Amino acid sequence: MPDCALTLCVDNGATLAQTAGTGLSGDVTVSADPAEVAGAFEGLQATLQTGYTGVRVDGLRLVDATDDQIEAIRRLVGEYCVAVFPGQYIGPEDHVALIARFGKVTHTPGVNMHPDHDEVHVVANRGDPAKPNSGGFHTDTCFVAKPPSFTSLSAIEVPDHGGDTLFANQYIAYESLSEVMKGWLRGLRLKHVVSGTDRPEAVPDPVWHPAVRTHPVTGRKALYVTYADRCIEAEGMTPAEGESLITYLYEHSLAQHAMYRHRWSEGDFVMWDNRCSLHAAVYDHGDQPRTLYRVMCEGEVPFE
Ligand code: OGA
Ligand code: MN
Repeated sequence: MPDCALTLCVDNGATLAQTAGTGLSGDVTVSADPAEVAGAFEGLQATLQTGYTGVRVDGLRLVDATDDQIEAIRRLVGEYCVAVFPGQYIGPEDHVALIARFGKVTHTPGVNMHPDHDEVHVVANRGDPAKPNSGGFHTDTCFVAKPPSFTSLSAIEVPDHGGDTLFANQYIAYESLSEVMKGWLRGLRLKHVVSGTDRPEAVPDPVWHPAVRTHPVTGRKALYVTYADRCIEAEGMTPAEGESLITYLYEHSLAQHAMYRHRWSEGDFVMWDNRCSLHAAVYDHGDQPRTLYRVMCEGEVPFE
């Protein structure tokens, strides 16, 4: 495939000096319009959904994507953290085959898989109308040596309202730190442990990952933290220092201007890049059913 997509995307980045807003002290990279990037590829129409985060791709049947289009999608998701493909209605077999085109299919150790499709995780939940709540922002399965690059969800059954998913752009989180803080984070590793699986005994030992990771496709640096249950220690720091730093970074990583909020429609196919984003489910859909099929792709060992 032509390399121009990546070049356009990264090299056309301009910087926007941040003068107001919450917690921004560095400059933020503003990438080229994804429509321009995607325009290099036949049949791909990508539209940026917020200032920095989330693209919607229309006019493409994913199951028929060419190899060039798969590479374009890999770059778009890497740059804008999450891509939404409406009206795809992708079933489990096509879903696994599609994700296999991006890399090795994997799943979260310790979760229960679809009874007939052992690479498909069924994300199903009904809320309690009396107790709306939200899942914490996280990056998927960061407690293994090679956390998933991509997670994808195919919307099987969606609520009439509520049950959205939020995404937070971690390039913006990193880029908007001060140079002093970036200096502190250089070479720092954080300890990731399992939480929230059905069978914790199926999960390997805790792992150390860099607090800042370089995305292998875009070359950009992103903050790599998750909620305190799973991110428990900063190497070489006292427990109190580590806890304060991780808490600060996690809060910093959730700026509204770096978020995209996805409202689900049946047939949606959504794919995000865990190397540069956090995401969270919102359980405000009462007792309406919400069923999403999930397939992930193995990533590399994170590097700074
Ligand atoms: C996941 C996840 C969010 C949602 O599948 O990893 O966090 O909205 N899903 O269901
Ligand atoms: Mn998740």
